[in-house]
Amino acid sequence: MGLADLTSMNDLVSLCKQRGFIFQSSEIYGGFGGCWDFGPLGVELKLNVKNSWWKAMTFREDVVGVDASILMHPTVWKASGHVDGFSDPLVDCKSCKERFRTDQINLSAPCPKCGAKGQFTESRDFNLMFKTQVGPVENTASIAYLRPETAQGIFVNFLNVQSSMRKKLPFGIAQIGKAFRNEITPGNFIFRTREFEQMEMQYFIKPGEQKEAMEMWKTARWNWHLENGLRGEKLRWAPHPPDKLAHYADAAVDIEYEFPIGWGEMEGIHSRTDFDLKAHQQFSGKNQQYVDQVDGNKKYIPYVIETSVGCDRHILALLCDAYRVENAGNPETERTVLMLRPSIAPIKVAMMPLMKKAELEDVAQKLFQDIQKKYRAEYDTAGSIGKRYRRQDEIGTPYCVTVDYDSLKDQAVTVRDRDSMTQERVGMDKLVQYLQDHLKL
Ligand code: GAP
Repeated sequence: MGLADLTSMNDLVSLCKQRGFIFQSSEIYGGFGGCWDFGPLGVELKLNVKNSWWKAMTFREDVVGVDASILMHPTVWKASGHVDGFSDPLVDCKSCKERFRTDQINLSAPCPKCGAKGQFTESRDFNLMFKTQVGPVENTASIAYLRPETAQGIFVNFLNVQSSMRKKLPFGIAQIGKAFRNEITPGNFIFRTREFEQMEMQYFIKPGEQKEAMEMWKTARWNWHLENGLRGEKLRWAPHPPDKLAHYADAAVDIEYEFPIGWGEMEGIHSRTDFDLKAHQQFSGKNQQYVDQVDGNKKYIPYVIETSVGCDRHILALLCDAYRVENAGNPETERTVLMLRPSIAPIKVAMMPLMKKAELEDVAQKLFQDIQKKYRAEYDTAGSIGKRYRRQDEIGTPYCVTVDYDSLKDQAVTVRDRDSMTQERVGMDKLVQYLQDHLKL
């Protein structure tokens, strides 16, 4: 039995569409650049990923969560450096008007779109924040931005959280939420989009303790990717060289995943110093110092270690990693399987009466109701059993349960394992326990 990895992103895009994971946004209108919609299975998968992150980050004594609003006071983005510095260099082809990122194009070569030579405009900076207007009057005072990162909603609430939760340093604040960037070149499915979700955590520490805290979070975050099922050999560290560090960081490292399109950033772990809190203190005029009762009531602005992972990017990595073709090229035995961990799989169990007959369905429905009390399950009667197995393999369902005519006699069902395809006969009264033992959820 040979297992081949995903080689083309197009295969994944079409499986995701066919099977209800991810659709192009506004598809009936021809789509909308850089935006995607999660379908019924995609939304379950996403919830599982978010839950796994939330559990890993906040089921500990030193981290609490928030859910800040997307729209914030515009001065937040002045203080954070985004109004002045969050931009990509951009050129236009004078002939076809297509825009390119200056750093992604060879300016002495012909236009990659229309082939015209020497036709690019001067490079200029293009701010990636989406502007909108708040309230009914269109003037500069009413301008707001869709947040380009969730982190600032944490920074501006640092003292609210610290004092209301009586937190002592070191402690972290975690948040999951939408972020928006007017990317010039969105693409590669959900790798780079204009609307996406981030899962970010800021860990506030005493200045000088950043090395230790960074190491702790590097280990924790690497392990989380492995626990969700990514293969270790497809992950690597990518430290930012000192001359490429963001304006706020004194050290930074990415966790990269080897996508079919090559290695790409999935998560960033940044040592952000006191840059953000200091800037907010300056722009708001509100003191952001922490009073360290353990250290003689010393006052200082904490340093910050940030962990920032794109929820959609991690989902893309999980889907790429789990997508396997078994016995590729053999028309008889070839099958596509999403080998997702049970904790991540959108559907845990599929219940399948062998045929659409009342005597089988009565039993299957009753078992289905029992399973559903504990697990997200699907009841499937459509098509041959082979076709039904194939569909469940493609959506990554770990176990399929079949009720057949023997079940009426021996009060047992057949449970099929997705990865090994082995089948086991299990007594109906032991089914839920069997699933629990095997799913380990
Ligand atoms: N607060 C720090 C921050 O936002 P970042 O490296 O710009 O850092 C963090 O973004 C993560 O967010 C990235 O590693 C990536 O997973 C995700 N991300 C960033 N831009 C994205 C985009 N346009 N589409 C999808 N995910 C994106």
